[in-house]
Amino acid sequence: MLDLLQLTGKQRQFVQLLQQHEQVPSLRSLCLAQGFDFNFINGFLRSGALDGYIQWQEQRQQTWALTAKGEDLAGVLPGFPLAERLLQGMTDRAQLQTELGPAFSLNYGALRREQAVELADGPGEGVVVPLKPAVLSAFQQRQAVLDAVASQQALGQGSTASLEWLQRQGYVAAQVVSDYSLTVLPTLQALKLADVVTTLTSELILSGQWRQVTLKPYDIHTEVPDVPYGRPTILTQCIQRIRDIFLNMGFDEMTGTIVESAFWNFDALFTPQDHPAREVQDTFYLANPQTVALPADSDLIERVKRIHEANYGGQWTEAEASRAILRAQTTTSTARRLYQLQGQAGKYFSIDRVFRNETVDRTHLAEFHQIEGVVVGELLSVRTLMAYLTYFYERLGFQELKFKPTYNPYTEPSLEVFAYHPPSDRYIEVGNSGLFRQEMLAPLGCGHKSTVAWGLGLERIAMLLYGVEKLSDLIGPEIRLRS
Ligand code: PHE
Repeated sequence: MLDLLQLTGKQRQFVQLLQQHEQVPSLRSLCLAQGFDFNFINGFLRSGALDGYIQWQEQRQQTWALTAKGEDLAGVLPGFPLAERLLQGMTDRAQLQTELGPAFSLNYGALRREQAVELADGPGEGVVVPLKPAVLSAFQQRQAVLDAVASQQALGQGSTASLEWLQRQGYVAAQVVSDYSLTVLPTLQALKLADVVTTLTSELILSGQWRQVTLKPYDIHTEVPDVPYGRPTILTQCIQRIRDIFLNMGFDEMTGTIVESAFWNFDALFTPQDHPAREVQDTFYLANPQTVALPADSDLIERVKRIHEANYGGQWTEAEASRAILRAQTTTSTARRLYQLQGQAGKYFSIDRVFRNETVDRTHLAEFHQIEGVVVGELLSVRTLMAYLTYFYERLGFQELKFKPTYNPYTEPSLEVFAYHPPSDRYIEVGNSGLFRQEMLAPLGCGHKSTVAWGLGLERIAMLLYGVEKLSDLIGPEIRLRS
């Protein structure tokens, strides 16, 4: 049964065309005359969609077509232009050469091969003597047949010899094409092809007309061409996935700046001014700008200074704190946010780039991404922290996590996070976490709060999730994309 609603525009037009006929002797000619693609219509017939509406009979026909070598001739058979002139009585070699240009020798060669011509002395540069006029006129016929084949015209009775000759030269080849003769049955004539709307426009919706018209239903099974399209890199896909997880967990996203003051990267994070992590081997210090302004809140500066000097001794200087660096951790964003919150509860995350002055190798780069997170609230514990991290990693498909005590200047306790990686059958370090210390929270105005926080490596996760072994397959000028 013909599903009228499923017809494509072209198929519909073709059915309408058939309704005007009872007999179609040659489907090929009909298609050619009416501008339909024969192969498309052929597929339509063979799909069986029109069974019961038309009868068709296949006819296989032999025709001739130009070969690639024949196409290369660009319509002119070598020998023909010269043969034609010789038949007109033009024999002066100099004149023929002028008229035929560089093609003269090619033409001469073609005729000479059949001993139809020869060169002889004469006035000027001599003459071309026609020896076999019959061969010369054969070239005229061959050219005519070549033209007919090229334009797919019917070939006359007398073309056999020329065709065989053209075939021997490799200019044309026999081809079997199929055609169909159709009988259109009354069932098709009786079909009512109501107009079907294929595009729902805003006019149709606004005018309410969509209620009256017949809308073409979507065919979700239609094959569509496979278009290679641009798409996000693995890392970007990974970032999006992680962002969605945190957003679904009720976290808000925070961002920060790449160029930071040492204050927010170290001092606010209770990292002493003589801590080894602050050295140039670990941190990128900038020459321009050399400093970043400290917060205008002098009380804040004073509180940080007092805590540093009370706990670590020595002298805390604003000069060291205001040095400009490329942030070495996204905990800078967390510190700024805590200061902004002044004790309000909340959940925040960021996925941002950090920079460390490290030796670059297969698994290390001087820049990478951190997934930062912080929860500010009451009575948060190590259990809370482990639960958040376990929940997050489970969403990514990591079932087993292990936590190992570690040291951070600004968290107490601090936990390193390991995830089980089945292919290598081992646990891989994926992050660092902890509960911020009072020394760090108090100066930022969150002293009465408890927090859990983490900083996780994005590239590690991406490598594990997508089975990438080298960082350079993840980042850099040449990235192999897989689906
Ligand atoms: N900033 C730490 C790092 O870069 C990670 C971290 C963040 C640890 C927050 C504890 C709390 O390794």
